[in-house]
Amino acid sequence: MTDHPTATTPGPEAGAADPGPSVAQLDTIVSLSKRRGFVFPSSEIYGGINAVWDYGPLGVELKNNVKRAWWRAMVQDRDDIVGLDAGILMAPQVWVTSGHVASFSDPLVECGTCHRRYRLDELPGAENLTQTELRDPTIVERLNLRCPIDQGRLSAPRRFNLMFKTHMGPVEEDANEVYLRPETAQGIYVNFRNVRESSRKKVPFGIAQIGKAFRNEISPGNFVFRMREFEQMEMQYFVKPEDAAAHFEAWMPRRRAWYERYGVDPERLRFREHRPDELAHYAKKAVDVEYRFPFGWKELEGIHNRGDWDLGRHQEATGENLEYFDQATGEHFVPWIVETSAGADRAAFTFLIDAYREEEVRGETRVVLGFHPDLAPYKVAVLPLLKKRPEIVELCHRIRDDLKRDVMAVYDDTASIGKLYRRQDEIGTPYCVTVDVDSLEDRAVTVRDRDSMEQVRVPVEGIRRYILDRLEEARSAG
Ligand code: GAP
Repeated sequence: MTDHPTATTPGPEAGAADPGPSVAQLDTIVSLSKRRGFVFPSSEIYGGINAVWDYGPLGVELKNNVKRAWWRAMVQDRDDIVGLDAGILMAPQVWVTSGHVASFSDPLVECGTCHRRYRLDELPGAENLTQTELRDPTIVERLNLRCPIDQGRLSAPRRFNLMFKTHMGPVEEDANEVYLRPETAQGIYVNFRNVRESSRKKVPFGIAQIGKAFRNEISPGNFVFRMREFEQMEMQYFVKPEDAAAHFEAWMPRRRAWYERYGVDPERLRFREHRPDELAHYAKKAVDVEYRFPFGWKELEGIHNRGDWDLGRHQEATGENLEYFDQATGEHFVPWIVETSAGADRAAFTFLIDAYREEEVRGETRVVLGFHPDLAPYKVAVLPLLKKRPEIVELCHRIRDDLKRDVMAVYDDTASIGKLYRRQDEIGTPYCVTVDVDSLEDRAVTVRDRDSMEQVRVPVEGIRRYILDRLEEARSAG
């Protein structure tokens, strides 16, 4: 089964008061994303393609910053985890061995009248069915489930495999079929021995990877929440079997803390453990980090104890030895895997939603994206108070050129200063630097803080250091 759709399944923290979403209407985020250039519908001038979204100039900066923050936490800051970038296309047998060909499917039902297709466990009245019930051919009839659009009769459920197929090479025949990977994890497992031998890492150690994954979702939706092409940030931690449970417990708070550190309100995060009948085919235990989206509590990231399912199966299928030899104890064993599996799009979406706020300032509504500075698309905007004074504009460009060596810095003179500040607030730029007439005399500029709106005067020569120090402070905090 793929990431689970239920919004309200009880979890360890269920029962606590619902904090409500950061933004009441998803449309607020969708329209801001389009208007300001975070996310666009894919192929829009051709009428669009369902469940694929494109990242605009600000969106690509945000998502790159999210991926950098994850890589920093998972690889750069740790001695025990190394990176990998494996191919999207893999030997098709990988997906047979991994169980995806047989089991990576969702229950599909079709309306006999309008022929719309639904994922059974997302239909009203079927959200909490067990895996056994979802496979029961009589379930639709027994529960009298109907098409939510026209009340038509629904078919009995059939399993629908979510993997996309394509052909390798110039001949389109079955023998040349390959899959677009539905998870990045398998690229890590098949490289386990290569990475271990070349990096000389000792168990416990991890391999991290960020990359595209593809799923032919039956019911994608909620903007970038569930797409057919998306990006994952996955880390596989290889451990001694008897230590797997303890490593699992240790990764849970680390992963939750990562979202909090980058600004997500702790009240809107919770853990939810999968019921035994809900577990994916590879999992011995699974806990989701859930976020309170505007459309309910939903999975943000999955933490899985995969046991020796993956390495064990690949070893059996290939005849290659994937065991680990522990020199200290003289033991040979197939390592167990604790996986942390996050979506880059879902994480960026979460940071975007949680950063959104509206404030009353002098009788007007100010929209602010209060991003952590590490995630903000632009770190600083350099603005002229008077764009008609060439000396002011020239000084702005000098300051911007100096800053852009280190950070994303932009120049904007397309509106009055008040409007320029509001525009930067709305895209989450932490600092605005304004050059005014006095700057030409006193060689100082005004730096405005996005959140407090406080302004300080800083010498032109010290501006780069000032901005870099503020950004460093934000990174070191928490
Ligand atoms: N390797 C394990 C695995 O793939 P998963 O729970 O199916 O586990 C992990 O997916 C994460 O990938 C999810 O928590 C979610 O953030 C992201 N994800 C999964 N399907 C997605 C989709 N259709 N669109 C966007 N993100 C998705």
